[in-house]
Amino acid sequence: MPAPMIAPSILSADFARLADEARAVEGAEWLHVDVMDAHFVPNLTLGLPIVQSLLKATDIPLDCHLMIDNPGRWAPPYAEAGAYNVTFHAEATDDPVAVARDIRAAGAKAGLSIKPNTPIEPYLEILQNFDTLLVMSVEPGFGGQSFIASVLDKARTVRRLVDSGELRLIVEIDGGINEDTVEAAAEAGVDCFVAGSAVYGASDPAAAVRALRQKAAAASPHLTLA
Ligand code: DX5
Ligand code: ZN
Repeated sequence: MPAPMIAPSILSADFARLADEARAVEGAEWLHVDVMDAHFVPNLTLGLPIVQSLLKATDIPLDCHLMIDNPGRWAPPYAEAGAYNVTFHAEATDDPVAVARDIRAAGAKAGLSIKPNTPIEPYLEILQNFDTLLVMSVEPGFGGQSFIASVLDKARTVRRLVDSGELRLIVEIDGGINEDTVEAAAEAGVDCFVAGSAVYGASDPAAAVRALRQKAAAASPHLTLA
């Protein structure tokens, strides 16, 4: 059985010290990078130049979460730059399969994200074109919000399809994950857990990553510690 993946979100890190902040979570499977454009979400964070610098500063694979309009235009450059996984929002495009194809052609894994109120059913038949599904468990835009447990049904639905062999996909969850909520997400079948404030708000971020991984493994029916 695989181990739980933990993806610390640098949205809660010190943006003036990103290289140090990446080092502070060494051992994390992915580093989650929230790109926001102040259009798709009411917040503005960082873009391609900072991702390019971060790629030189860390060996942790970058998990870029694009909360932006027009991902067809803006997502492939993150893959070309060397991001490991590039996730965009289903709500931001009419042709998610084409965007996934372009991301993969540019050398990255492709991820589809859905907001808390977006149902998964309309997207089930296109998930075979993706490597990851990012289930948002808060409204995208800000760190430090409370976990919305009702989204876990979407993780359960996709977990069943993965377990039955119909899909090959990493199920990822993002928003409000901490030591109190990670177990419910793990029970629902999540593989990869994004955590911002729970990691970077801790006095020892690397220890917080280990604690989340441990709790996820203990609660998950399909994950275990290596
Ligand atoms: C929110 C971002 C999240 C955020 C999570 O729009 O997508 O990745 O950093 O932060 P926490 O873990 O604090 O909810
Ligand atoms: Zn995110």
